[in-house]
Amino acid sequence: MKSTSLFAIFLLCAFTSYLPSATAQDVLDVDGDPIRNGFIYYVLPAIRGNGGGIERAALGKDTCPITVVQSPNPNSKGLEIKFESAYPAYYINETLILQIKFSYPQQCERKNPWWAISKDISEGPPAIKLSGFHGTELGWFKIQKASKSCDSNDYKLVFCQYDETWCLDVGIYVDRQGNRRLVLAVTGEPFLVHFHKISSSTA
Ligand SMILES: *[C@@H]1O[C@H](CO)[C@@H](O)[C@H](O)[C@H]1NC(C)=O
Repeated sequence: MKSTSLFAIFLLCAFTSYLPSATAQDVLDVDGDPIRNGFIYYVLPAIRGNGGGIERAALGKDTCPITVVQSPNPNSKGLEIKFESAYPAYYINETLILQIKFSYPQQCERKNPWWAISKDISEGPPAIKLSGFHGTELGWFKIQKASKSCDSNDYKLVFCQYDETWCLDVGIYVDRQGNRRLVLAVTGEPFLVHFHKISSSTA
């Protein structure tokens, strides 16, 4: 039984890799289309019920909404998020190193900052915050498949140090106030997400 389903997965992977537009490693949106480098998407939880899309909040010592959080509202699609690789890649695949930012900056920021990691752990595990503010460190992000199955569009975000000496999954940490922060999932589960086109009717 097990080998049968593995064979089915193999066939599916083999089929996927024959598609002219996409390779097996390309990151797919919920419609099954490859994610395009430099384009914007909504990032929604793969498992519904515990909050909505990704947005930003001013938490703790923040003087501007620089903490990346999951919306408490399960019906919220969150903010538009841009994925960009400096490599001249048309599509984003699972090995490509990326930077991420919100599509629109806020007035309290001078320019539109990339997502970074906060070295301040007084509020919980290292959180994803916007760069350029005190105590943040830039690195790379990757988008990787959460399960080996080729037909799943469940992905996780991974944060890597610049020199890639370590990479850690991004998870959710619910702080004492109930904010659902995106953090390095040092011990916990990765946050499984789907990518929705901004114009998609399924978003
Ligand atoms: C991922 O994309 C980059 C840039 O287009 C390419 O060089 C690399 O070969 C791709 N990796 C895989 C595994 O397809």
